[in-house]
Amino acid sequence: MHLPHLLGIEGLDREQITAVLDTAEEMAQVQTRELKKLPALRGRTIVNMFFEDSTRTKMSFDLAAKRLSADTMAFAGKGSSTSKGESLRDTVLTVAAMGIDGFVIRHSASGAAKLAMEWTGLPVINAGDGTHEHPTQALLDAFTMRRALGPLQGRNVAIVGDLRHSRVVRSNLLCLRELGAHVTLVAPPTLMPDAIEDWPASQGMTITNDLDEVLADADALMMLRVQRERMSGAFFPSEADYIAGWGLTRERLAKLPDHAVVCHPGPMNRGLEISPEAADAARSLILDQVAAGVSVRMAVLFHIFSGEGSHA
Ligand code: NCD
Repeated sequence: MHLPHLLGIEGLDREQITAVLDTAEEMAQVQTRELKKLPALRGRTIVNMFFEDSTRTKMSFDLAAKRLSADTMAFAGKGSSTSKGESLRDTVLTVAAMGIDGFVIRHSASGAAKLAMEWTGLPVINAGDGTHEHPTQALLDAFTMRRALGPLQGRNVAIVGDLRHSRVVRSNLLCLRELGAHVTLVAPPTLMPDAIEDWPASQGMTITNDLDEVLADADALMMLRVQRERMSGAFFPSEADYIAGWGLTRERLAKLPDHAVVCHPGPMNRGLEISPEAADAARSLILDQVAAGVSVRMAVLFHIFSGEGSHA
């Protein structure tokens, strides 16, 4: 299966998502070998352009490309001519003119990855654009949950926290619905996105403000970070109030079914949306998500850059 780009989960069907997850399983096998590198993308040059901060996403894209033998270059908004006022368009056209094969882009503006693709005509992978999408996060979350729970068809996944400022929730909702999971969105009223009923894939999902009512039936809880950097005012009275209503405390952790798992895309506000007990619990998959990030990003790079028809 060839993918021309990955701007979002929107537009991908179950077959394509499953193909990426299955390739990621093969990549994960390679990661257990002593020699973890494949020659698949030898001679390709992929540029990581991060205009927003990142630890996991940036490092795992870089590692994934290297493990496929691609050459990588890193661009950071800070320390580049962006600070001299160069526009996004001029920046991507400049880098494209050096003769590269594609971009991985993170930017604070929704739609930035799509624009970069249109301007340069090169394949682009969206590594997070504003509050729009973060498709590889959703794919690695699905990969991690599928490994722990088996097929996600019919499973109950609750996505909890600051949904208003999250691109992870959009991509996950689309991905999980395509895979047949039932999604419940849980947030304080002030942190629920506006007009959420109009989102694609919103059909059949449940929306609630009450975390306690979803615990007993959850197969997976995905806790999302309170994104202070995107908040201009106060969205909740105090941290204590947030924890009391929406924090995954030790008490709430104990109310989950035995088989249920806990995810968080990171970075965590330990002690706010997730307690240390939950973050470090045996049922926490947070570091599995990080490991999956390398395999899933290898799979995405492979499907885009290894050439049409070269893989089933
Ligand atoms: C997320 C992001 O940047 O969208 N993090 C990540 O990529 N692992 C979520 C977040 O910042 O809270």
